[in-house]
Amino acid sequence: MDVSETIAPVKVRTNMADYDQAYADFKWQDVEKEFSWHETGKVNMAYEAIDRHAETWRKNKVALYYSDENRDEKYTFRDLKRLSNQFGNVLRNIGIEKGERVFLFMPRSPELYVSLLGILKNGSIVGPLFEAFMEQAVRDRLENSDASTLITTKELLPRVPYQELVHLNHIIIVGDAPDQVDETADIAFYSYEEEMKKASPQLDIEWVDREDGMILHYTSGSTGKPKGVLHVHNAMIQHYQTAKWVLDLQEDDIFWCTADPGWVTGTSYGIFGPWLNGASNLIRGGRFSPEDWYKTIETYGVTVWLSAPTAFRRLMAVGDNVAGEYDLSSLRHILSVGEPLNAEVVHWGMKVYQLRIHDHWWMTETGGMIIANYPSMELKPGSMGKPFPGIKAAILDDAGNELPPGQMGKLCIKAGWPSMLRGIWKNEERFKQYFPFEGWFESGDLASIDEDGYFWFEGRDDDVIQTSGERVGPFEVESKLVEHPAVAEAAVIGKPDPVRGEIIKAFVSLRDGYEKSDDLLEELRLFVKQGLAAHAAPREIEIREFLPKTRSGKIMRRVLKAWDLGLPTGDLSTMEE
Ligand code: WTA
Repeated sequence: MDVSETIAPVKVRTNMADYDQAYADFKWQDVEKEFSWHETGKVNMAYEAIDRHAETWRKNKVALYYSDENRDEKYTFRDLKRLSNQFGNVLRNIGIEKGERVFLFMPRSPELYVSLLGILKNGSIVGPLFEAFMEQAVRDRLENSDASTLITTKELLPRVPYQELVHLNHIIIVGDAPDQVDETADIAFYSYEEEMKKASPQLDIEWVDREDGMILHYTSGSTGKPKGVLHVHNAMIQHYQTAKWVLDLQEDDIFWCTADPGWVTGTSYGIFGPWLNGASNLIRGGRFSPEDWYKTIETYGVTVWLSAPTAFRRLMAVGDNVAGEYDLSSLRHILSVGEPLNAEVVHWGMKVYQLRIHDHWWMTETGGMIIANYPSMELKPGSMGKPFPGIKAAILDDAGNELPPGQMGKLCIKAGWPSMLRGIWKNEERFKQYFPFEGWFESGDLASIDEDGYFWFEGRDDDVIQTSGERVGPFEVESKLVEHPAVAEAAVIGKPDPVRGEIIKAFVSLRDGYEKSDDLLEELRLFVKQGLAAHAAPREIEIREFLPKTRSGKIMRRVLKAWDLGLPTGDLSTMEE
């Protein structure tokens, strides 16, 4: 990786003129003044995201453009206020209380967003699930959270083992009624549409404390069952300010976050950040396809686009001419999150979109963006950028001491940023493990900082490869591999070896038009050897049609490793089909 290459800002129209200045001057306390609770001390995320705008000239501004194969709809801030009030009343009429866990298990639809806002207005804690979850994944989450209420659809209901979930008492069905339900189960079934019809659009919002629970996102670790990461209403401070400075949202933007709300990106930035800023959100249902995505940008005039490296790599793999068939000139700002954004993809983005793809780093546990590339800043391809103002990030060694620039170590964040996780549901022990060093949150990632203060991702703590005494970050090798024209995606693991400790094994999927051959494998090995370092060259390369990935697009190295070594794969609930 070339740590000295920079790309200057392009098409800049930015809310943050100068990073260093912002970093020096910024105080989170100043952001609090933007919200109503500055005066009242009581708060509700849904009020701040929707109702507040419905009380201003923005009331007729489109808050949500929703489209999928069958629907194409618009909702203003006033529409969403009214509908979410109604859904808040639906829950209240049923008797759902503040703090109860209400889960969503359905495809993206306007009803999903209305429900989510209504749950928050009722003071309940929302738990969004990926629609593709199968029974075990649904069971684990509903069981662990003791959810009382589930909102789902006829199609997904068969994957909900409701007869066996002792705390689940209410199921609200959106759309067609199920053909048949188990009447002997102690569950009350409701129709979303029927209940909405009966519900008043006037609601006394449940004003909560800023530290009251808001959302539970389950996330998988390398071991054990998924953990319920708890976030509170206070997180809005961070959602608001990061959406302003990193997404750079402005009044006339049409913002598209491609993430599903089952993933933290799909709520923090698919819902909260943009709406807290009064921006227009576009939600596109359905599956990824390059043509559909480019068409969506063209049709809606998307200006700011947030997606994931895996999507950009897939768009890269289909070839530049596909992008050329669409008018993408509305785009002014592109962002990527969720896994390393290889320098190669940034270069490709410059060529095809004439825009920089802004990588940024955070995780379910951090609730909001932590390290980012900002529109006005020089961007270094392959780097995650610099800490958000108000946040201290550092590289620590195994004893918790800060490491100087250039050294790889544990990426840690000074505890106390506004959207930090407040707990792991029913697992205090696991929560404590995030804070091994006094006052620091440990991310589990390895990274380094360069002389200019840019952060570089090196891998997960547990993925780093030790080979013949050399420490190799798999991401470096993967990045190199995807620079090769034949490679679409790559995943690299350490494979135990009696002589070298570990050897490097690469799993590679090929771009269209390339065939597996011994010559190609040798070429790839040499490519890494010559491009990176001899010790970093994979000794084994396996071509696979698909690499196992989470629904958020992260390649699951641990799964490949388990398959390779014939070990148990652990929790696979977040793996895409
Ligand atoms: C990884 C995602 C490299 C990292 C919002 C982190 C990244 C984990 C980046 C969290 C990035 C996220 N570069 N790696 N820009 N962003 N990651 O909880 O390993 O799904 O710890 O949240 O993704 O994933 P999560």
